[in-house]
Amino acid sequence: MKSSFGQTLRVTVWGQSHAPSVGTDIDGFPAGYRIDADALAEFMSRRAPGKDPLSTARREDDIPEFLSGVENGVTTGGVIKAEIKNRDIRPSDYDNVKNVPRPGHADYAARVKYGDGYDMAGGGPFSGRMTAPLCVAGALAIGLLSKNGISVHAKPVEIGGVAGDVDAMKEEIAKAKADGDSVGGVVECTVEGMPAGVGGPLFGGMEGLISSAVFAIPAVKGIEFGAGFAAARMRGSENNDPFAVENGMVVTTKNDHGGILGGITSGAPLVFRAAFKPTPSIAKEQDSVDLSTLENVKLTVKGRHDPCVVLRAVPAVEAACAIAILDALLTEGRILKTE
Ligand SMILES: Cc1cc2nc3c(=O)[nH]c(=O)nc-3n(C[C@H](O)[C@H](O)[C@H](O)COP(=O)(O)O)c2cc1C
Repeated sequence: MKSSFGQTLRVTVWGQSHAPSVGTDIDGFPAGYRIDADALAEFMSRRAPGKDPLSTARREDDIPEFLSGVENGVTTGGVIKAEIKNRDIRPSDYDNVKNVPRPGHADYAARVKYGDGYDMAGGGPFSGRMTAPLCVAGALAIGLLSKNGISVHAKPVEIGGVAGDVDAMKEEIAKAKADGDSVGGVVECTVEGMPAGVGGPLFGGMEGLISSAVFAIPAVKGIEFGAGFAAARMRGSENNDPFAVENGMVVTTKNDHGGILGGITSGAPLVFRAAFKPTPSIAKEQDSVDLSTLENVKLTVKGRHDPCVVLRAVPAVEAACAIAILDALLTEGRILKTE
């Protein structure tokens, strides 16, 4: 099973949660970029499981091995193939959901599409584990963008309905976990230094490109740019961002447009928020069905799960955004510095 994104920078993610490995093939990445191994490891550890009592107990080091496209730490221009071994697998945890789909997870829809022979242990290719290879590709994209003065930074802004303070958000996760339940939340991502004039109308719009990449992250159920859904409740006079000249440059005096007008970047910081639903696998008993007998049954999900995916998903949002932006820049033939 594999899934691909991008026009010029073609990123493919492959593997499954409890298969021997997951990985990414990155085609179209410029030659001559030196991978910063420390920055890559640091980025991967922000997503890696087992680091925090509020995340899944599965332990993975998430260090990729580059099988091609990188010589002595420098990209060659060929296809970059990176593999991450799955070390802490326990497929038997999922024996009881083989025929009993977890509400909210991909089990039922995948069964309809692929039949009953498919390895859905740990969510198979629909697992949050797939964001590990996504983060490898994203880390390279972020590194190359930073050489060109573009930074991508995401943070959690709301969890379980609580906004602002990270400790208060973590308390919501702990409460949900104690109840055998889960919570969702919102991640905000800001891109600084994005040049004006990237993107295009209709299907070529930057909102669409970024959204398409961000929706690859499991559990994302919504995305909004700038004022987003709040703009639907504003008047034009309130929502419009006035133009002004500052130091000989055209700027907007506020940024409700989120850095994109008509699908094209305006030069203002690009800002979007992604909504994550609560983790489907919860300890509480739930109603489901046995697909082999077509009977209603009660399900208690086993395995190791995140009571909230939001904190671990933050680097995945940065990764998806960086991949989409880099692809757009490369497609438009913008010259990108690798050093
Ligand atoms: C970093 C990350 C970790 C996740 N961990 C879990 C988990 O432990 N248990 C679970 O049921 N879902 C987890 N998910 C979410 C599911 O993979 C996702 O809800 C499921 O595949 C269904 O897809 P959908 O929610 O996009 O419809 C995680 C998602 C991410 C991004």
